[in-house]
Amino acid sequence: MAVLDREAAKDLDDRDGLPKLPLPNLKDTLEMYLRCMKHLLTEEQFNKTQKIVKEFGAHGGVGEFLQSKLVERREKKANWLNEYWLNDMYLNNRLALPVNSSPAMVFPQQNFRASFDSLRFAAQLISGVLEYKTLLDAHALPVEYARGQLAGTPFCMEQYYRLFTSYRLPGPERDTLVAQESSVMPEPEHIIVACKNQFFVLDVVINFRRLNERDLLTQLEKIVKMADSEEERLPPIGLLTSDGRTEWAESRRVLMRESTNRDSLDMIERCLCLVCLDDASGFELSDTARSTLMLHGGGATKNGGNRWYDKPMQFVVGADGCCGVVCEHSAFEGIVLVQCTEYLLKYMTGSPSKLVRAASVSELPAPRRLRWKCTPEIHKHIASSADNLQRLVKNLVMNVYKFQDYGKEFIKKQKMSPDAYIQVALQLAFYRCHGRLVSTYESASTRRFQQGRVDNIRSATPEALAFVRAMTDETLSSSDTEKMEMFRGAITVQTKYTILAITGMAIDNHLLGLREIAHEMKMEKPEIFKDEAYLISNQFILSTSQVPTTVEMFCCYGPVVLNGYGTCYNPQSDHIIFSVSSFRESPQTCSAEFVKCLVQGLLDMRDLCNKCNSGSDQAEQRKGQTMETHTQTETYWRDKTRQSPSAPTKSRQTVPQVLVRSPDKTNAETQTQTSPQGKALKNGNKS
Ligand code: COA
Repeated sequence: MAVLDREAAKDLDDRDGLPKLPLPNLKDTLEMYLRCMKHLLTEEQFNKTQKIVKEFGAHGGVGEFLQSKLVERREKKANWLNEYWLNDMYLNNRLALPVNSSPAMVFPQQNFRASFDSLRFAAQLISGVLEYKTLLDAHALPVEYARGQLAGTPFCMEQYYRLFTSYRLPGPERDTLVAQESSVMPEPEHIIVACKNQFFVLDVVINFRRLNERDLLTQLEKIVKMADSEEERLPPIGLLTSDGRTEWAESRRVLMRESTNRDSLDMIERCLCLVCLDDASGFELSDTARSTLMLHGGGATKNGGNRWYDKPMQFVVGADGCCGVVCEHSAFEGIVLVQCTEYLLKYMTGSPSKLVRAASVSELPAPRRLRWKCTPEIHKHIASSADNLQRLVKNLVMNVYKFQDYGKEFIKKQKMSPDAYIQVALQLAFYRCHGRLVSTYESASTRRFQQGRVDNIRSATPEALAFVRAMTDETLSSSDTEKMEMFRGAITVQTKYTILAITGMAIDNHLLGLREIAHEMKMEKPEIFKDEAYLISNQFILSTSQVPTTVEMFCCYGPVVLNGYGTCYNPQSDHIIFSVSSFRESPQTCSAEFVKCLVQGLLDMRDLCNKCNSGSDQAEQRKGQTMETHTQTETYWRDKTRQSPSAPTKSRQTVPQVLVRSPDKTNAETQTQTSPQGKALKNGNKS
């Protein structure tokens, strides 16, 4: 194993011919920062922040100096941001992975009549994983192209190559994302199967032959038998991985004193993935219940110990048909997880069981149980981890809701971006529940760039605030036409911000870069990052993400702050699935209430559209005025990406041209080819 090799990854991306992530202009970022925060702060807070920001951005000031260092960094690195971002977003975070960090995909409820059915499902799933791994090993995964906004641009595929090869190693202060070193000779590969809190090594290549589905089923049957043997049962070591990262790092350090434990850890850290054969939970398996089970396994008394949270891919196959996958997030985004999972589910439904085929089962060596030497100290750690997990289990309140009154087709008919519409609906829901707006995170993919991950679309815009006030405050007595105007204003700004974010021009990553480079240079923390407004701007009380699927399933995750909501949505043509999480401990939040307000808001928004007949004249008019950015950019991208996937576009040509904010002028040339069309829009949007 080796710390993820950025240079190797760089080569991979260079082959794809993607441009480097741009560096936004300092002035633009600071202006946008103030714009994003003004309405979320008190007047006093804002005045103070404005002064601090002005000082930071002054000519010859700290901001300019740090910006110049970022410009240099950008020159040298494939992606100037990544290391900072990865540490900040994931590896420095000390919170436990389940609920707080690892999202899950919940599969449709399976109807297993007997244990054989669930094992057959698991065997098919593993078979699919092996098939997918073959594609990855051959670098034969087709390049993905953007859909929706700025459709047609190729995406960086790097994240896929970490799905089955990486591992998040806990550290006392910071974790490490390690990746399997590729070797000339393919190594024997194995999967770890968890069953009754025991871990088994399932070799999937034996005597240079990949096991087929029948072989896999036979091996799984052997595992279940071995796991049933009570005398051989070992303590639920997996619980340790569900604890806070510092706590787990400490337990791991203790475990590592014994060579038996070192060998077992090594097998887990090098496996392709985990397959967790869960016992039936005994719960009634609603979508909501299944989402919680997927996120935390139901705690130590259920399947919470039947996990190894450091591993990026953990497939769960419950005896009661509760199935899905929970993923360690630092290696890749939810969209990559969805693509892989959809491949697997399609593989499974498209490939009827191949169990009839004869196989050399009798020759297969039995899977091996991983052994642990547990000192009393380790037993104490396990007990403490179990308690901590139990607290998380009790604390999480999920609410999965399928909104069936309409879906994205209705929204498209209004000539609005479905994503922007849903984001505005989330703002309305929050405002209805809490009477204010708060810093909101919406993940926007930056995979148009080398090693791109995500940036933040700040959806709590002033325009959204105006709209939600008009919708909820009767004393304002806004007419429907006025409300509709405000609605369109909110959608337009949200769409523009989305375009900024996906073209690498949003503010969060840039501010993070400025903060981190100051830290790296051992400078005193600039005032702007000590300011209360900056802390507020990073308290994502509403953490949202679109995770669409083409196969029946949905994504869920926990809130990122104690008094927050985690809100994931999956827009389909005629319905939208929402999974909303919050913490019971917070007296301020309530998932059920949020969902209630969300539904009411979605219905109100539809009624407003219908009343204002937004699908026709006005929408056309607005399209001409405000979707200029969208349409011109689309034309640009369409022209630029007419080449075939195998003919990569050259970096300079693929950098987005139509931006509201300009990249840093000092290195603009390396980032963009200025086009008159781009300039016009850029200036036009400056207001
Ligand atoms: N009128 C009519 N149709 C419109 C429209 C308009 N004004 N604006 C957009 N549409 C259409 C799009 O063309 C698209 O059509 P398609 O379904 O045929 O492809 C559809 O509506 C969806 O577009 P939109 O709702 O605007 O969103 P998007 O698909 O561009 O998604 C983001 C926006 C920000 C979610 C996306 O860019 C992104 O970054 N996704 C990644 C999120 C992520 O990382 N999630 C996981 C985190 S772990």
